[in-house]
Amino acid sequence: MIKRSSWRSQFGFYLIAIGSAFGLGNLWRFPYIVGENGGGAFLLVYVILSLTVGMTLMIAELMLGQLSHSTLLVSSQKLGEKQKMPFRYIGIMSLVICFIVLSYYSVVSGWVLHFLTQFVKSLFVKDHLREMSQQSLSILLNNGWLQFLLASVHIILSLVVVAKGVQEGLEKWVSRIMPLFALLVVVLVARALAMPSSGAVLRFLFYPDFSKLNLKSLAQAVGHMCFTLSIGFGTIVTFGSYMKRNENLASVGMKVTFLDTLISLVAVLLVFPMAFHGSERPMTDPTLLFEALPKFFLEIKGGLYFGLIFFLCLWLAALNASIGLLETMVANFTDLKPKTPRNYFAWMVGGGVLVLALFPALSGTVFRDLRILGLSLIEFLDTVLINWILPVSALFIGFMFYRSYKSEMENIFVDETQVASLVLYRDWRRVLRWGAPVIIILGLVLQVCYLVLS
Ligand code: PHE
Repeated sequence: MIKRSSWRSQFGFYLIAIGSAFGLGNLWRFPYIVGENGGGAFLLVYVILSLTVGMTLMIAELMLGQLSHSTLLVSSQKLGEKQKMPFRYIGIMSLVICFIVLSYYSVVSGWVLHFLTQFVKSLFVKDHLREMSQQSLSILLNNGWLQFLLASVHIILSLVVVAKGVQEGLEKWVSRIMPLFALLVVVLVARALAMPSSGAVLRFLFYPDFSKLNLKSLAQAVGHMCFTLSIGFGTIVTFGSYMKRNENLASVGMKVTFLDTLISLVAVLLVFPMAFHGSERPMTDPTLLFEALPKFFLEIKGGLYFGLIFFLCLWLAALNASIGLLETMVANFTDLKPKTPRNYFAWMVGGGVLVLALFPALSGTVFRDLRILGLSLIEFLDTVLINWILPVSALFIGFMFYRSYKSEMENIFVDETQVASLVLYRDWRRVLRWGAPVIIILGLVLQVCYLVLS
């Protein structure tokens, strides 16, 4: 059974929280969302949002976990009873989100695994790298069962790690991959920016043209921000519940948000030079990363080895994020029913995710004709969950926290040794109380207008 012990060191905790925040959201999802919304203006809005609303909600979720000393399912139940509000639905909603998101997150992780195996093959088969950069994506997209097989391998591996327990499971993975991956990406960005397209890319990304934004853009920025910071899932609350009392949550939340936003910025600098250079697919397509990067690795010296390490690290990051999602669900159920063995929940949840993954995996083949509001199944799941339900969940968690812990917040936030801490606290409280709800609701309302008018 799981012990609610604290993480060994604060540094270990950073690595884990950053590890769960960092994942396919940064490298796979963010670039095509930026592409879809026309570049610079969206990027600017996103960064501002992330460093204000995102950071605020991240700190609130950490505090909620620490103060309630339990995961979201249990804390929402307890707080609901205390406040006489239907808060318990928040816990249930967040678990449903984790469950569905993990099903298609695993499918995309399977895509990464596919490219990883192709790079390994290129080590042994002459000219395979060239062939691969031209054909691998379409082979994959036309073979739903292959996608399902790869997703299954990914889910089973995540399950094995989770079944072993939080500390050994997570900590080991993250601390090893993060620094190496960061270094590799920085080297690759330097190379990407040496490409002839870099002038156009920098203009596209850093020259804000607000006419490119539309009524959906704000909701997309909010949704993606929640997705990449793991807000609204109950994951951050779970982390908070494991944290020691004497750790400064505000500073942890700020650092994690800041780093995650930085990584997203670096990701677009890596993906777009190649996308501008000679990509056949539009820059708004979810396959953008997988279209652009193999071609990039074909063009640079030593690309085979760089590509191999890149996809290996990316897959490990995806594995780590999937473990974070699985762990959130298992920790929530274990908290609710402490007598039931943790592994029972791990296998039940993992099995369910495996079955559900069939749908997104086969969405381009067997279920090709099943289109909802003009979207394929995988696109529909992604849109509904990330742009609609996740922001609502984040909003409710923030609201529940504020209502329940108004009077305790200041003590936890303010660090007496830091002069700026009290000023920051006031700003944070203001954003939590007014800024975040206004932005999230505005995003949702504008999105409704978009649907009605289009
Ligand atoms: N934040 C992760 C990413 O960007 C996804 C994730 C969400 C992981 C929730 C764990 C929990 O890929």
